[in-house]
Amino acid sequence: MKVCITKNYEDMSRKAANIIFSQIITKPDCVLGLATGSSPVGTYKELIKSYENGDLDFSAVTSVNLDEYRGLSGDSDQSYRYFMNHNLFDHVNINKAHTYVPDGKEPDADKACKAHDDIINEVGGIDLQLLGLGHNGHIGFNEPSDVFPKGTHCVDLTESTIEANKRFFESESDVPRQAYTMGIQNIMMARKILVVVSGADKAAILKKVVDGPVTPQVPASILQFHPDVTIIADEAAAAEL
Ligand code: F6R
Repeated sequence: MKVCITKNYEDMSRKAANIIFSQIITKPDCVLGLATGSSPVGTYKELIKSYENGDLDFSAVTSVNLDEYRGLSGDSDQSYRYFMNHNLFDHVNINKAHTYVPDGKEPDADKACKAHDDIINEVGGIDLQLLGLGHNGHIGFNEPSDVFPKGTHCVDLTESTIEANKRFFESESDVPRQAYTMGIQNIMMARKILVVVSGADKAAILKKVVDGPVTPQVPASILQFHPDVTIIADEAAAAEL
């Protein structure tokens, strides 16, 4: 694991965007695995700037997102499809038909999850997977558990994740209780992984991810076994390393 420590969120975002930039330059038809949440928003802003400057062309890029709330349609402004459109896709020349987010409106969980796994296979796997880190060590919505889940699956969100995500909803009771998420095997099969971590509230979990034992109780700890992981953490998040 390479850990790169940056001064602050903005510096973290610029460095992460540079890595994605270089991925797109060296393989214009690459497959990006993308994440939602607060951590990658600054990275997406930097990528939009590079597109606007004429330095980056997304026309041949495919993207596959990590997760989506079960029950939300892409039109709902709390859905992860909406988030991706609003924070990245609407502002660059990516072909939206080549952007894939699990279908939250598909009530049949097996069908929704199989469809997402099939897409990942059909596009030839993920070249670069961008991740944020949950306070409990989750990546995607792979919550602490006794096993590392393999493919895309339906999860019950933990109280801590519901609590952390309620800021995007009117009230806690509006937060969906389930989500479709890529599994740990989907993530680990990405050829490169980039993790962005910011803020003092992530310091204790980042220490466990980097230096603790590899355990499904800290799902992101599995990244220690991946051959090409870069963690970009700001000073506050890296305080315990
Ligand atoms: C989002 C996702 C989650 C977030 C994590 C951190 O697609 O899969 O694992 O990356 O919850 O969220 P933030 O960045 O909001 O702290």
